[in-house]
Amino acid sequence: MEIDTLKIAEITRKDFPLFNNQPVNKEKLIYLDHAATSQKPIKVIKALENYYSYTNANVHRGAHQLSAQATEAFESARSITANFLGAKSSNEIIFTRNATEAINLVARAWGDYELKEGDEILVSMMEHHSNLVPWQQLASRKGCHLKHVGITKSGELDLNDLKNKISHRTRLVSLVHISNTLGCCNPIGEITDLAHQYGALVLIDACQSLAHQHMNVNSLNIDFLAGSSHKLCGPTGIGFLWGREKLLNEMPPFLGGGEMIEEVFLDKSTWADLPHKFEAGTPAIGEAIGMGAAMQYLQEIGIDKIHSWEQHLTKYLFNKLKSIEGINVLGPDPEIKSNRACLATFYLKNIHSNDISELLDSKGICIRSGHHCCQPLHRYYGISATARASLSFTSTIEEIDYFIDELYSIIKFLKNNS
Ligand SMILES: Cc1ncc(COP(=O)(O)O)c(C=O)c1O
Repeated sequence: MEIDTLKIAEITRKDFPLFNNQPVNKEKLIYLDHAATSQKPIKVIKALENYYSYTNANVHRGAHQLSAQATEAFESARSITANFLGAKSSNEIIFTRNATEAINLVARAWGDYELKEGDEILVSMMEHHSNLVPWQQLASRKGCHLKHVGITKSGELDLNDLKNKISHRTRLVSLVHISNTLGCCNPIGEITDLAHQYGALVLIDACQSLAHQHMNVNSLNIDFLAGSSHKLCGPTGIGFLWGREKLLNEMPPFLGGGEMIEEVFLDKSTWADLPHKFEAGTPAIGEAIGMGAAMQYLQEIGIDKIHSWEQHLTKYLFNKLKSIEGINVLGPDPEIKSNRACLATFYLKNIHSNDISELLDSKGICIRSGHHCCQPLHRYYGISATARASLSFTSTIEEIDYFIDELYSIIKFLKNNS
């Protein structure tokens, strides 16, 4: 499929039933909440439907053909995921429920066994709670210290602070690649080189990156990566951990039960090889197949084209937002920092973001309001909530114009009535 970058939205919107069918509050739907969860193209919906209609069976178990077909489709989704990430082997792909579970898996199966009292884990002030709470829990179980890298004035990771806080006691640097609130893109390659010099491992939370820019786990030289299918046009209920095969082999299982064993005796068990060692119980089979279809769909459009269109839209959105008096937008300006995520998190003094989002909703515009699972970051800025409009390759200039016009009127109305 060869697509002209400027026509990406026009062409791909047809693939999404929700954009074509669903009026919200009798208004046309303007979905600007892609960072919370992406919409699903028909290819993904069909992959789920086909699985449940024609090949539904449990995987890795049955001696019958249907089970063999389901297993083949499920394992093929693993190979697609490995290819999508540039992994060396599909053994390095562990299916989880979501990115949160992938991070918890590392905290439990690596952290509980490798860390000891006094060891340090480095995260940042901009982390999603998913990449913060598991490390707090680990630190409290093991007597480790959690250190937080600060934010610069422009709303980016403070690399100097990172350099000051990393030490030979640091065992893991766990960072978000693209912040779901600031929208900044952290320089993973540089950070990984530094972390490895200190003997620390690097985990990257790639939830907000994988649908928007090309990522290759080997060229980034990282050790673990966590992702969620529903952020990249796939179904909910499935995510993945990528880890270096050697590390995963050395780690004990996370959860115990069926599927993850080699042999079970009454008093002890032995473990299956990778990746099954980490996949206890019946997995989300249809959802894994749907996620594979989503990754192929994104690859067919072309991740680089998606990236270019989204960069164009982001600059347009920011320029429009700048014209609204009193608005504060978090994170770097896309005119200065090119590799910025296609989302804008903003607030206005004396106006609650919930009021903005509720009034926008009455016009059919979906944005997110709240702390976006980044309470420490909001506390750092001294605000309890912000509004966030997030775009995707299906977003259009017309949608942004409509959103800005409505936002402008709503702010005027709220200011006059406060
Ligand atoms: C940056 C980031 N990390 C982690 C997550 C958690 O993803 P999930 O809830 O799918 O595990 C999200 C979801 O909002 C996110 O944006």
